[in-house]
Amino acid sequence: MTKKIVLLAGDGVGPEVAGAAHRVLMAIAAKQGLSLTVDEKLFGGAAIDATGAPYPEETAQACGSADAVFLGAVGGPKWDDGGPRPEQGLLDLRQHLGVFANLRPITMMPGMEARSPLKDDVVRNVDILIVRELNGGIYYGDRVEGEENASDLCAYSRGEVERVARIAFEAAKGRRGRLASVDKANVLATSRLWRKAVTALGKAEFGDIALDHVLVDAMAMKLITTPSSFDVILTENMFGDILSDEASVLTGSIGLAPSASLGDGPGLYEPIHGSAPDIAGQAKANPVGAILSAAMMLRYSLDAPEGADAIELAVQGALQSGCGTPDIGGTLTTDEMTEEIISRFS
Ligand code: IPM
Ligand code: MG
Repeated sequence: MTKKIVLLAGDGVGPEVAGAAHRVLMAIAAKQGLSLTVDEKLFGGAAIDATGAPYPEETAQACGSADAVFLGAVGGPKWDDGGPRPEQGLLDLRQHLGVFANLRPITMMPGMEARSPLKDDVVRNVDILIVRELNGGIYYGDRVEGEENASDLCAYSRGEVERVARIAFEAAKGRRGRLASVDKANVLATSRLWRKAVTALGKAEFGDIALDHVLVDAMAMKLITTPSSFDVILTENMFGDILSDEASVLTGSIGLAPSASLGDGPGLYEPIHGSAPDIAGQAKANPVGAILSAAMMLRYSLDAPEGADAIELAVQGALQSGCGTPDIGGTLTTDEMTEEIISRFS
């Protein structure tokens, strides 16, 4: 059966990396006889310019009935002037699709340690899966924005914590059996509920998983001092946003890191980097994060794990033979790197 993908290129380097992922998907589909359609829709700042809204109704309808949604990136200084924000479109999209679990794998490829800003022996064997709650917390609480006062409410229900924690425990089961849950339980009420809910779920259903609780400030430090000691890291929406940017540079560049956001409906796939307006339009963007996100899409939403394997192998081959964009010390353009990867499909 033909699988329907909606492609939201977005802003900045978004169209460049989404285009790379699109080409890779078409190449792997042709190679492996997969039937895919890719439907491009307006999103983010580009949608604001065209329609006034970052997540127009037509885009929402297409996303809601897709098998998976692929997103490049959104945002940029052009939309910083007090009008509608492109990022609001992303929050609306994540809420509309109900993608409450955001998976962000951070994996050090053997032999690539020198690319990391940290010492080789610190980053050797780093293999972390960050599971970030994506539909709640301070991103979605009531906001008050005045000239003299402002507030953002952070709220979580036990059910919201349990459903994302279950995904993280399950992931740990299929990996090395360890879960570090990150919170700020020494200060925040939501964090104390988080800790209680995760502990109870672990006891009730995942007795074989080694569960630790780590305060978010300590985790910020440990990700730099002992990153290879972590397996799965579970955390709430904003802590996950911050820690995943930090963790992504362990392997050399945020441009390498993919993500999958999962719920009960269509999955959402996006590189974790932003729109990078400083390098947009210069053919410098690293397409690997987007291409690996496309691999996650084949695996989790499109029932094509062999396609995912083939893409991951090709990316690994290209990187290990020294190919790369400038952010990882290479000389290739976005398109050249993409072609290099496609040429390695066996
Ligand atoms: C991310 C991004 C988004 C977030 C922004 C663009 C709203 O930083 O996906 O990590 O904060 O979730
Ligand atoms: Mg972020």
